[in-house]
Amino acid sequence: MGVTPTQQLLTLLSPERRRCAVVAALMTASVLGEVAVPYFMGHVTDWVASEDEVAAAWSMAVLGLSSAATEFACDVTYTGTLSRVLGRLQRRVFAAVLRWDVTSLQAMGTGAVTARVTGDVEATHAAVARVLNILLWYLARGVCLLVTMAWLSPRLAFVTLLSLPVLLLLPRGIGKIEQGLSRQVQEGLAGATKVAVETFQAMATVRSFAHEAGAAERYHQRRRHVYRLERKGAAIYAATVWASGFSALALKLGLLCYGAQLVATGTITTGDLVTFLIYQMQFAEALEVLLHYYPNMTKAMGSSEKIFEFLDQEEQVAPTKEPEPNIVRGHLQLEDVWFSYPEHQEPILKGVSLELRPGEVLAVVAPPGAGKSTLVSLVLCLRPPGAGRVLLDGHPLPACRHPHQRCQVAVVPQQPVLFSRSLHANIAYGPGSWSRAEVMGAARRAGAHTFITRLPLGYDTEVGELGGQLSGGQRQAVAIARALVRDPVVLVLDEPTSALDSESQLQVEQEIFGAARAGRAVLLVTGQVALAMRAQRVAVLEGGRLHELESPKELLRPGSRYWCLLQGGGQMG
Ligand SMILES: Nc1ncnc2c1ncn2[C@@H]1O[C@H](COP(=O)(O)OP(=O)(O)OP(=O)(O)O)[C@@H](O)[C@H]1O
Ligand SMILES: [Mg+2]
Repeated sequence: MGVTPTQQLLTLLSPERRRCAVVAALMTASVLGEVAVPYFMGHVTDWVASEDEVAAAWSMAVLGLSSAATEFACDVTYTGTLSRVLGRLQRRVFAAVLRWDVTSLQAMGTGAVTARVTGDVEATHAAVARVLNILLWYLARGVCLLVTMAWLSPRLAFVTLLSLPVLLLLPRGIGKIEQGLSRQVQEGLAGATKVAVETFQAMATVRSFAHEAGAAERYHQRRRHVYRLERKGAAIYAATVWASGFSALALKLGLLCYGAQLVATGTITTGDLVTFLIYQMQFAEALEVLLHYYPNMTKAMGSSEKIFEFLDQEEQVAPTKEPEPNIVRGHLQLEDVWFSYPEHQEPILKGVSLELRPGEVLAVVAPPGAGKSTLVSLVLCLRPPGAGRVLLDGHPLPACRHPHQRCQVAVVPQQPVLFSRSLHANIAYGPGSWSRAEVMGAARRAGAHTFITRLPLGYDTEVGELGGQLSGGQRQAVAIARALVRDPVVLVLDEPTSALDSESQLQVEQEIFGAARAGRAVLLVTGQVALAMRAQRVAVLEGGRLHELESPKELLRPGSRYWCLLQGGGQMG
């Protein structure tokens, strides 16, 4: 993109221009006060001799106190400003991830994304909030001190300046190496987190296969790689500190010798030399701090680079601006849709076209692994098609649709995921609000009401992480209720009754086929022939292509396309 992380951070700061100006003014005032104090210290002997020490002491005290007060005000304003800016960054990164298509998210891995959103943003926050503050202070001090030193003795200041290239270029070069290393460490850490998250999610499998040691070893392998990189980073850091400390000491000695000569020749007074040396010591300290913290800052820039990559990708999948109709009729069309997963060369969908009109139930039948769930994810725009278009009421469905439209297309996924909150909140999920009566009505129609009322806390029962405290069938029933409560115009169902008991199954089937009469379009994706038989129209997904049958009865006719498919090795219920 050609935009550096520093420029990106500065762009983030731009809405806070006024506060930044206040910080700069306060910082300048405080630094000027600070820099004036050594002037009095250097000449204190002259004032003692002239019996004016009380005036000198007062001036020093007032300057010192005002400088401290402005420094305090500056730090408070700076911290407040930075918190706002970084809070905004965190929100943007989180929102960017939410807008990603599912394929990219899966390709990256949940662990890596989590590490990026929390760890990297936190690292940038810490660096910018603390390290940048220190760098700015010492940079302001350094510049002020250098100007004062030049005013006191241009020759000694010139000698100080001559040493600057060595003092500055060395850490800059090393900083570049550190930045690259920090990037590798972040990637390594994200890899380790990915392994940890995957292992914890599959805890039951790890235990039942007695593979705890193997899982731990896999994690340690990743950590060892990070450790090696960190050790390399520590060695480079130590070399930087040593090199900058040594060159600062050489400069001090040189100045002392040259200054003594200048005093001997009468070019400057002893008082001036003392003042200059105090300034020089402070300047060296400022430089040391700058050199010490600069690598930390470049390290943080390495982390922020990754964050900004996220934001760049956010721009790549930005929604196309299509007119948002207020009323969704529920006319769904797929036009020559192609799709393949990055891991597989062979496309899963090869030019699929379908049309679903309001008030219709279209069943798509296929054996396991034929691409039914993939088709559902495309209809929901969770994955962008490789080619072709998905249209709702004639409008292409962009990657991110208007919330109003999204609520009109409800889905019951094959593996429903619940959130760690109450059953009521899980059913009444999404924009909009539903009363307890509406939630209960939807749960009844989904066959979930009976089991919910048997729970001690009923609809207020917490379901645990990913709904882990419910059975598979209960999760499915709650997911159906969640789709029904919003009274959608298009209902997309992926094996909706596979885990339900026969009573709930009947209830849900009634809902599916009864809803169509009420004008709702239903796309029913299933491997169960008995369920598909009840739909008005049936299509078979075979070899990535969709073939519509003349009638549902054709599913069972010996010699039909589907019959042949089953003979070829498919499994069916
Ligand atoms: N996230 C993924 N990444 C790569 N390949 C995938 C992914 N999800 C599915 N596939 C592959 O795509 C093919 C179709 O999978 P899909 O889940 O769409 O089948 P399905 O018809 O829904 O199967 P089932 O009846 O078992 O639910 C499978 O061969 C599967 O291996
Ligand atoms: Mg599936």
